[in-house]
This record gives sequence, structure tokens and C-alpha cells, in this order.
Amino acid sequence: MKLKDKVAIITGSTKGMGKAIALLFAKEGAKVVVNSRSAEEENSTRKLIEKDGGSAIFIQADISNPKDVKDMFQETVETFGTVDILANNAGVHKPKEFFDLTKEDWEKVFSVNLIGMFLCSQQAAKIMVDHKCGRIINTASVRGLPHCGRDGNMDYSASKAGVISFTKSLAKKLAPNIQVNAIAPGPTDTDMNNWTKEDLKLTYAGRLLEPEEIAKVTLFLASEAPPSLTGEVIVVDGGYSLKQ
Ligand SMILES: NC(=O)c1ccc[n+]([C@@H]2O[C@H](COP(=O)([O-])OP(=O)(O)OC[C@H]3O[C@@H](n4cnc5c(N)ncnc54)[C@H](OP(=O)(O)O)[C@@H]3O)[C@@H](O)[C@H]2O)c1
Repeated sequence: MKLKDKVAIITGSTKGMGKAIALLFAKEGAKVVVNSRSAEEENSTRKLIEKDGGSAIFIQADISNPKDVKDMFQETVETFGTVDILANNAGVHKPKEFFDLTKEDWEKVFSVNLIGMFLCSQQAAKIMVDHKCGRIINTASVRGLPHCGRDGNMDYSASKAGVISFTKSLAKKLAPNIQVNAIAPGPTDTDMNNWTKEDLKLTYAGRLLEPEEIAKVTLFLASEAPPSLTGEVIVVDGGYSLKQ
């Protein structure tokens, strides 16, 4: 098992990529904290993990709320003793055309995608610095890469470009004991997906990616990736960004 007894918080793990990451981490022996802003549902990620013999708790927390985030880390330490891995996966995206975008739209997307990521990373780093080890994996997006943003997602793309910048700054700050990397997924089959047929033609795969494909790369960064791999952005997009 690649993550035996490691404690992992995966933000936004009730569905989509976060759920796939949580299920894979649990299968690899991690004690998993499942999180979302909404209340836990029937047939939840936590219940699936427990049914499979794994160990998990669910913590309802809005990652854009500093108190929620602090409480989530405190509950995790009280339950599992520490935090070894943070997968900053939670994100929001509400497609809107440039002339319709409002200040509130920008504030909403930045408060979750970037500020929420900062809040969680700060809490995790406090624990990891004490233990002189830890791994933080941030979910960016191909939209955050140069040239990949466009009308319809300018606020989202800017937030994900910020994630990439933040990843590199944090990797420098926490080196050498704590690795911080990002994944930039391309079109992936989740509730958030609003990719067009034209977008899909830009992938060599010609299809939406499965959340499990992103989870496998997240697992690599959380386990086997050598200490020299830090501050990097791994693009997992079926070749989408190559054709921009
Ligand atoms: N799907 C794609 O094509 C794609 C491509 C590139 C990057 N991404 C990125 O990949 C990540 C996962 O996206 P996804 O496609 O799996 O999305 P998804 O299916 O919409 O899942 C998003 C998860 O985040 C949670 N969440 C949202 N706001 C939250 C908050 N304030 N606090 C805590 N949890 C929150 C959601 O739960 P509740 O809303 O119920 O709280 C849900 O569990 C995101 O960062 C997204 O930007 C997605």
C-alpha cells in the first residue's frame, strides 16, 4: 500500500475528482478526511470507503471560511493525530460571459479556488513543518496555463493561474521537507464539466478524461514522487493545452 496509515485531507471530495482521489487514497491505506461545503449525502464517499474496509471521516466545512478551515484541521488532528497529505481539490466555476461578470463573481471564485486553498495550506503547513514532512497537492486547471483562458471563464482562469503561482511560492517557502505541487487537469467528466465539442476536438484523446485519471496522478504526487519534485505543475489534459 502506497499510503499506509497516512492521514490525508481531500477538500471537495463528495463528488468528481475529489471523490475519486479519496477512494483511491483509502484503497492505498490512507486515513481520509472527506470534505464539502454541503452536508453529507446518502451513499457518501465516507460510507463507500468504510464499506470497503477503509478509514474515513466526513467534515462539513466551507474552505473559504477561516473558522471552518481551522476547525476541520483541529478535528482531523483530534481524530487521526496528524495531517500528512493535503489535496487542495475543492473549486467552483460558474461560466459567464465577460460583459456579464460582476465583482461578486470574481470574489466568489477567488474566495474558494485561491483563498480557500491558501487557508487550508496554511493550517496544513503548521502541522507539517513541526513534523518536517508532508505533501500538498493543489488542483489548478489547464485554464490557468498561459493562453488557455478565454471568454466565459476569465475569473476562473485567473484564479487557477493564481493557484499555479501560489504552488511555486509555497514550494519555495516549505522546501526541503514539504513538497508542494499542482495538477492542471483538462476536460474531465464531472458535474463541473462544461467543455464543448470544440474543446474535446482539441484533445488528442477526443474524449473527456475520467476523474480516476486525475486521482492516479494525485496519488503519485502524494506517495512515490521523489523529494526533488516540488513546485511543479503536472498537466493531465489528453493533449488539450498542446493545441492552444
Ligand atoms: N471538471 C473539469 O473539467 C476540471 C478541469 C480542470 C480543473 N478542475 C478542477 O478540479 C477540481 C475538482 O473539480 P470537479 O470537476 O471534480 O468539480 P465538482 O464535481 O463540481 O466537485 C467540486 C467539489 O468541491 C466541493 N466544494 C465546492 N466549494 C466548496 C467549498 N467552498 N468548500 C468545500 N468544498 C467545496 C463540492 O462540494 P459542495 O459544492 O457540495 O460543497 C464538490 O465536492 C476543482 O478545483 C476544479 O476547478 C476541473
